[in-house]
Amino acid sequence: MSPRFKLLRTSTFRLAALYLILFVLSVGTLLGYVYWNTAVLLERQTDETIRAEVQALADQYRLRGLGGIIDTIRRRSTDESGAVYLLTDVTGQRIAGNLTNLPAIPMDEANWIEFPLDVEKGNARERHVARAFYTNLAGGFELVVGRDVEALRQFATIIRQTIFYALAIALVLGLGGGVLMSRNFLKRVDAITEASRTIMAGNMAGRMPVTGSSDELDRLALALNEMLDQIEALMGAMKEVSSNVAHDLKTPLTRIKARVEAALRSGAEQEYRAALESTVDESDRLLATFNALLSIARAEAGQSRSGLAPIDASAIIADVVDLYEPMVEEEGGRLLSIAPEGLTVMGDRQLLAQALTNLLDNALKYGARAGKTPELEVSGAIEGEKVVIAVRDRGEGIPEEDRARVTERFVRLDSSRSKPGNGLGLSLVSGVMKLHKGVLLLEDNEPGLAAKLVLPLHRA
Ligand SMILES: Nc1ncnc2c1ncn2[C@@H]1O[C@H](COP(=O)(O)OP(=O)(O)OP(=O)(O)O)[C@@H](O)[C@H]1O
Ligand SMILES: [Mg+2]
Repeated sequence: MSPRFKLLRTSTFRLAALYLILFVLSVGTLLGYVYWNTAVLLERQTDETIRAEVQALADQYRLRGLGGIIDTIRRRSTDESGAVYLLTDVTGQRIAGNLTNLPAIPMDEANWIEFPLDVEKGNARERHVARAFYTNLAGGFELVVGRDVEALRQFATIIRQTIFYALAIALVLGLGGGVLMSRNFLKRVDAITEASRTIMAGNMAGRMPVTGSSDELDRLALALNEMLDQIEALMGAMKEVSSNVAHDLKTPLTRIKARVEAALRSGAEQEYRAALESTVDESDRLLATFNALLSIARAEAGQSRSGLAPIDASAIIADVVDLYEPMVEEEGGRLLSIAPEGLTVMGDRQLLAQALTNLLDNALKYGARAGKTPELEVSGAIEGEKVVIAVRDRGEGIPEEDRARVTERFVRLDSSRSKPGNGLGLSLVSGVMKLHKGVLLLEDNEPGLAAKLVLPLHRA
């Protein structure tokens, strides 16, 4: 598309053109109205005056006879009003009036004539236009009464010219403005297009130009930039996850390889057996890692929201507590549970149970101070329009600055490295919360951690 053509096709230019048309139409109407109210009405008024004078003269003739009308015409012909008169007899001879003879110009049907009139202005002669009414009087006399309408005509011409120039100027300015505006618009759209091209070409750090005027294009650019920020962050996270996955798989695979090689070297049947058994263990752990990763991805994608049904969270709490109570008691600890019935949420029973299991698993793992037994508490309650399921422990807790990042995949705090785990438990919990339109809150239990699942309450 040629650049000029492109300009005409911008929405700004079309809008400007539309406004221009409307503007020119309204200005035209306004000026037309002014023209009508001045020039046309003045001309009509002149016609009225002439007609009235003809009437008056005809009355004179009727009442006072020829002498009367001649007298009146003579008197009136001398003043400088621009009035013209001519009275002729049957033979066409002038009897009275300031017009020497009637120009041979055909009159229109309504007895009006227009003719050039020579006027003395000081020493010079000027040619003006006169407009006159022609009438027959009884006895074969003819009467012409008219006015010098030169000034009137000039006035009308000035108004017409003004209208023409005003419209022309409006048109030129409007078109120019439209072109300028759309060129500016086009420049900015082109800049955005150009920026997207460079980003697509691989420059992920590139951003849309923002002028700071906070107009709609700026808002668009800002929104696109926010989107790009998020895409960049997600891509960064993806890279980190893949390198973490690679790292997490590398260690157990290296271990498996080392053991199998050692067994092969020793050649003892006992060694073979031990190596195979540890291989099975490592494989189980690897599979568990993969399953966790897949569950997180599935929950985060939020595909299975249609599979959610109203369920009572207190039943889930009871199940999970039943499962964990023996384990906590085995460590000499206590697990307290308070959950009234009727904690209805729209949820996936299995995923919610998994999330709660992960929280209890953490509480059991990290929830006891050195040399102490775990004191755990699981509670469920309705708070306003929310169902809150909390798991509290009395361990070291999570420092405030780490609470956001522990929900990322593979993040484990240095203090917990001695305990088994992949750093995927809380990622799955927050994935499950995302699917349920809920949130995972990590708070200080003074001491210990209070991990809360906050879900929208479902009212039947
Ligand atoms: N109750 C808790 N008290 C103290 N620290 C905790 C608690 N729960 C989680 N953390 C910290 O958050 C980190 C991330 O927890 P997450 O459950 O995601 O992983 P993990 O327990 O290490 O491994 P996984 O759950 O995959 O077996 C833990 O490594 C630990 O450092
Ligand atoms: Mg965990």
